[in-house]
Amino acid sequence: RPAAIIAPSILSSDFARLADECKRMVDLGADWLHVDVMDGHFVPNLTLGAPIVASLRRHTAAFLDCHLMVTNPEQWVAEFAKAGADMYTFHLEAAAGPGADDWHQLSPDAMNASVEDLCHGVRNAGMNVGIALRPKTPAELVAPYVAAGLVDMVLIMTVEPGFGGQSFMPVAAAKAAVLRAKFPDLNIQVDGGLAPNTIERAAQAGANVIVAGSSIFGAPNPAGVIAQLRGAVQA
Ligand code: DX5
Ligand code: ZN
Repeated sequence: RPAAIIAPSILSSDFARLADECKRMVDLGADWLHVDVMDGHFVPNLTLGAPIVASLRRHTAAFLDCHLMVTNPEQWVAEFAKAGADMYTFHLEAAAGPGADDWHQLSPDAMNASVEDLCHGVRNAGMNVGIALRPKTPAELVAPYVAAGLVDMVLIMTVEPGFGGQSFMPVAAAKAAVLRAKFPDLNIQVDGGLAPNTIERAAQAGANVIVAGSSIFGAPNPAGVIAQLRGAVQA
């Protein structure tokens, strides 16, 4: 399994002090910063967009891991690249066009063309490519794109996307094992409800990139939580 990468989700930070919060996390041992972008359509919540990423870019050299929970992921590729995003992770469910926010609605052909185009577009724009799966979307659907070398990371949601602070779904985390068996070197990210008491399930399934919002920002000793998450992945 590749090295552990701990990515605090700035969704749980004080947005009025974003630059300081980011610096604090990097100083406490964060490897990446996870940036949750929500459009009020793919998920029932609004957060931030490329202008905030561009501002943040001027204050930190950290790897900006952007998670696009949006209906039209192709719409923001150029803007995020220009803003300085390092990783652009779009949802597989959103990749077949407006309205297809559930994998059941995707026709295989429409999905293939659209996902491949997006992967190329993101990479050509100079960013790493991530594909995210809602908790109920089968891991097998993403395997062909990984096998074709189009993808740098797969994000397995371990809560329904939309809000921080929800409960970890062990069944969703178990999907990591399907991908880890096929792809020993793939970065597999888990996101949602990760904390010292849930990390074990995710780590055992083979996840190595750990997003955590409330468990890190809400802790009296965030550095300790970051170290614990890292330790569990490396064990
Ligand atoms: C949820 C977001 C997560 C969220 C995680 O839609 O994608 O990144 O911030 O927060 P916690 O760790 O609190 O579940
Ligand atoms: Zn996220």
